[in-house]
Amino acid sequence: MKPRVLVTRHVYPAALSILHEDCIVDYKDSYDVMDAAQLQRKLQHAHGVVCQLTDPLTAEVIAAAPHLKVISQIAVGYDNIDVAAATARGIVVTNTPGVLTEATADLTWALLLATARRLPAAEQFLRSGQWQRWDVDLLCGADVHQRTLGIVGMGRIGQAVARRALGFGMRVLYSARHPLTSPLEQELRAQQVPLDTLLQQSDYVTLHVPLREETRHLIGIEQLCRMKRTAFLINTSRGPIVDEAALTAALEEGLLAGAGLDVFEREPTVHPGLLSLPNVVLLPHVGSAVTSVRALMCALAARDCGAVLRGERPAHPINPEALR
Ligand code: DGY
Repeated sequence: MKPRVLVTRHVYPAALSILHEDCIVDYKDSYDVMDAAQLQRKLQHAHGVVCQLTDPLTAEVIAAAPHLKVISQIAVGYDNIDVAAATARGIVVTNTPGVLTEATADLTWALLLATARRLPAAEQFLRSGQWQRWDVDLLCGADVHQRTLGIVGMGRIGQAVARRALGFGMRVLYSARHPLTSPLEQELRAQQVPLDTLLQQSDYVTLHVPLREETRHLIGIEQLCRMKRTAFLINTSRGPIVDEAALTAALEEGLLAGAGLDVFEREPTVHPGLLSLPNVVLLPHVGSAVTSVRALMCALAARDCGAVLRGERPAHPINPEALR
């Protein structure tokens, strides 16, 4: 009998064609987000699930899915999934790294530049009919080239961000659990430093760590106080890496110059203080939002789901120990 796969929300059609090859697919073309209770009901008979970062794959949800063999996440981040609970049950969890690296690095740079050069404010100024003439100090922002970029987390995306910084002639500092190889450090002209040093010396601090217990609120009031008053914080990783209330207070107090945020602690809710600050650029979690990239992510997740259900090794297992 063919295995049953739940696809939780709207996906690009390529994912469905791949799954239809060997599976019975439970799919409603809807953007609605299922809560834990709905997921529990839908997963009762499922052998696989293709899910998104909006889906709470908690220990309770996993416990209510007795036949589940694979959870395939359409994202590189997987903090919505209780991987330990899945592993304990021998359920393989997969994600979609690689295909979104360059798009996310591009967006990080777009956000950094938009924040430094006040692009949303400038556009709003023009659209609202306020532009009367060129003024010498009209909408001036901050320099980017030859400044210091601090990259927190030097995985694929952090490295892609660093590579782009070469074109801006920036000094690049990074903090990471593991140092880059020395040839890679040389290629990226990046220097590993402790987080505190990075915060003290950088003009732009950009976050590229996964959300784990130890990275939750990695940037709180203490860390924000260490940053230069002229510095900017950019976050395209996960919202809870930053204590949003502390960031709002720090920005209100002028402890840093501004922030560019693509991710938030309680998406899609944004701290109301941030919404009223003029020196913050806010985006709705669009780091990898390029049509071709999102289609690839969907296909990759579907392929890995199918692979596990056929008894094959998936391309991107998060918990390879569950394969045994
Ligand atoms: C991810 O992949 O984790 C992003 O947040 C969405 O692309």
